[in-house]
Amino acid sequence: MRSSIQRVMVLAAALSLAVAASAGVIDARQTVKARKEHLKALGKSMKSLRDEAGSWHPNWASIENDAAAVAKGAAALPTWFPAGSGRGDGVKTKALAAIWLKPADFQNASRAFATQADNLVDAAKTQNVALVRRQAKAVGRTCGGCHRRFRAHFD
Ligand code: HEC
Repeated sequence: MRSSIQRVMVLAAALSLAVAASAGVIDARQTVKARKEHLKALGKSMKSLRDEAGSWHPNWASIENDAAAVAKGAAALPTWFPAGSGRGDGVKTKALAAIWLKPADFQNASRAFATQADNLVDAAKTQNVALVRRQAKAVGRTCGGCHRRFRAHFD
């Protein structure tokens, strides 16, 4: 039989879990969900741009659109990673703790991406397909560079 003090402790623990769920955890879940959608959209824009730049008759309006979407995403990316939305915060995410432990490094990786994405916008305007392909690769390297250091291989 449980003593009343034990019952009170169990109740208190359950209550604090409920509070945590209503405050931080749910929020983190929504943050991660939205973040993954943003990142998936980035991946789609990059793929679409690459496919178009590899086709016989590139649709330049589409390439410019995709480049603009990538640059917009690159500018916003740091806001997709608020503190408390990493692994260990009760969410399924590949975002490594290093993002928040080494904020300057993460910022550099984000900035490198944004710089190359802006260059991609400029490249798209030239309608020079070789330049666009080369610049898309440069952007891709900044995606990979960040993933290698800040993204886990599993949730
Ligand atoms: C500054 C770091 C950084 C840059 C730059 C970056 N990513 Fe990511 N990316 C991440 C992290 C961290 C995750 C893991 C997010 C998570 O699981 O919550 C991720 C996850 C993803 C995912 C998986 C989303 C999902 O559904 O789980 C895709 C797709 C992706 N990135 C595409 C890209 C592409 C394409 C680029 C470049 C055009 C890029 N990323 C640039 C850090 C970055």
